[in-house]
Amino acid sequence: FFSSVKMGPADPILGLGLAFNADTDPKKVNLGVGVYRGDDGKPFVLESVKKAGGAYPHMEYAPISGPPGFVGKAQGLAFGENSTAIKQKRIASTQSLSGTGGLRVVSDFLARFLPSKKIYVPNPSWGNHLNIFKDSGLDVQRYSYFDASKNALNFEGILKDLNAAPKDSIVLLHACAHNPTGIDPTKEQWAEIINLVSTKQLFPFVDMAYQGFASGDLDRDAYALRSLTETVPNLALAQSFAKNFGLYGQRIGAAHFVCKDAEEADRVLSQVKILIRPMYSNPPIHGAHIVDTILSNPDLTKLWKSELKDMADRMNNIRGRLVQELAALGSTRDWSHITKQIGMMAFTGMSKAQVDRLKAEFHVYMTDDGRAAISGLNSQNVQYVAKAFHEVTK
Ligand code: LMR
Repeated sequence: FFSSVKMGPADPILGLGLAFNADTDPKKVNLGVGVYRGDDGKPFVLESVKKAGGAYPHMEYAPISGPPGFVGKAQGLAFGENSTAIKQKRIASTQSLSGTGGLRVVSDFLARFLPSKKIYVPNPSWGNHLNIFKDSGLDVQRYSYFDASKNALNFEGILKDLNAAPKDSIVLLHACAHNPTGIDPTKEQWAEIINLVSTKQLFPFVDMAYQGFASGDLDRDAYALRSLTETVPNLALAQSFAKNFGLYGQRIGAAHFVCKDAEEADRVLSQVKILIRPMYSNPPIHGAHIVDTILSNPDLTKLWKSELKDMADRMNNIRGRLVQELAALGSTRDWSHITKQIGMMAFTGMSKAQVDRLKAEFHVYMTDDGRAAISGLNSQNVQYVAKAFHEVTK
């Protein structure tokens, strides 16, 4: 029965982890997958998470859309405690299996109910976006995002391409810490993009995987989402707690649909549940319990926010350190984009051939597009990685 099943390629991001694990060289460094590590290079569990993870009320099923307490907290974090849309009960929300699961639920919903199947995705974007949207039956189109010659945002390209998108098209926007480039529009640029999305009647679909991880400030990182919510009649959001709570393997996140009123939100949520029930029935409870506990307890919330800030600060500091080390080695290449970028990713500008050499000669693992998850850098390996970068870019 399976004789016609062909071997598929390894995942460009998660497959790297397998190759890294199989590498026996003690100098090996994993800059592949975006997972935060402490300065000791070890997996990192937040103190706030350890404190919240214990006492457990029950092991029974959650509602299809997740425990209401958790879902309300997720809304507040994304849209703001004083959000008018929340007060007006016009956001239909469900727990999701982290960011990917949220993206998939939203894109399945959009494919089922929206008039247009076209989705405009930035070029480049997180690789899995394309798989998710294609598997949902959406028609994936690209819009310019990055100017490789300047290692900078291609703002004119964004405006030009979105301006040419037909009315009703879906447009995928990264809320903050764009993955893989680490480059976000400024507030002024966001205002223009949001105005364009609104006047062209495009449907914004926001992916927020890094709230708090870009600037260390949860509200600042939600700026684009909140501004959009005030401007457009409808939008969808996939929200992940993998990075900001360090809950990667718990697969915890939420999907939200901003609606015109509470009655519309009720209808939308009823269909979201109909979509989820035959897919995975109802979500796992542990991650929701941890997030809800942290956000319900002011001391734990305070601790979590300070830990989040520490993680964001470490990422920024290690960026600076990498660029310093490259200069100290005599690299004449301009690496300043690395310190201008934000979040967990550095889009180094290195070619696939250079990335291949890094892996083969130096046991440094990065994705083929030259993206380095700088969360894998620390004070022990940053010099070695700088030397490797310098050698392959001489
Ligand atoms: C990444 O981009 O490395 C992360 O979002 C992990 C993943 O699932 O790809």
